[in-house]
Amino acid sequence: MNCPLVIDGKIAAAEVLGQVKHDVEVMKADGVRPCLAVILVGDDPASEVYVRNKVLRAEECGITSLEYKVGSDTSQAHVLHMIEVLNEDAAVHGILVQLPLPKHIDESVVLQAINPQKDVDGFHSENVGGLSQGLDVLAPCTPTGCMYLLHKTLGDLSGKHAVVIGRSNIVGKPMAALLLKANCTVTILHSRSERAETICRQADIVVAAVGRPLMVDADWLKPGAIVIDVGINRINAGGRSRLVGDVDMESALTKVSAITPVPGGVGPMTIAFLMRNTLTAAKQQTQSRAKSEASCLSIS
Ligand code: GUN
Repeated sequence: MNCPLVIDGKIAAAEVLGQVKHDVEVMKADGVRPCLAVILVGDDPASEVYVRNKVLRAEECGITSLEYKVGSDTSQAHVLHMIEVLNEDAAVHGILVQLPLPKHIDESVVLQAINPQKDVDGFHSENVGGLSQGLDVLAPCTPTGCMYLLHKTLGDLSGKHAVVIGRSNIVGKPMAALLLKANCTVTILHSRSERAETICRQADIVVAAVGRPLMVDADWLKPGAIVIDVGINRINAGGRSRLVGDVDMESALTKVSAITPVPGGVGPMTIAFLMRNTLTAAKQQTQSRAKSEASCLSIS
């Protein structure tokens, strides 16, 4: 078998970000500067790192970023009020509420409060529903990034059997919808699935998004499979802490034709597609405003 390809997410993310940066410059020349607002409730250290990276990347692309950090005791009503103000602000094109939220705040109520046109995470039910109907909506960033890597590696995905391990709203379910839209035969495996390993061994494409370190090894894989590892798990091995995926890469490399590493695989793609969603949202809002102004003029 040929030497397996280790898919470099940093290179792919740089391609996407380069295109976003170019398109942002074109928009700015037309007088519109895309703007992303990020709300962080509480002081979860991992969330703080994610938000800092999102804000930095936005600045690198020429996208304005507004960061709203509030304490962990902030009420749900106050978070909803912040969203309402941002929804009304025509200069803000994208709104992201970093998850997880503190326990006293109902995540689904908060996500539903975001204007679907500004929902750059693709978590609002209008966008979730649109995606499940195969419509061109704002789709969640991590699965969109995985699709980019798959197309870049394989080209056309039509007819391939794709197995998604994990059924989360953020990754597993939208990933399955995007693979279906790309004409794959899709199976979702989850914690209650029987014969998971046997089913996974039939897959041409495996997307592991389960949050269990090193769960998938060579025994789960068909020779020549392509593996996208979404897991980011911190483990302690031999007295030192390190990041690993849901896939045991060393073992998987004996079987796969291509695989994403952890770190440096899917991770950089999530932020790149957040920037692309912000740009898309800004373009769509600018176009729909121009249309409604034109129709007002034709009535008056
Ligand atoms: N927390 C972990 N991943 C995500 C994500 O993709 N979006 C948001 N808003 N919060 C997250």
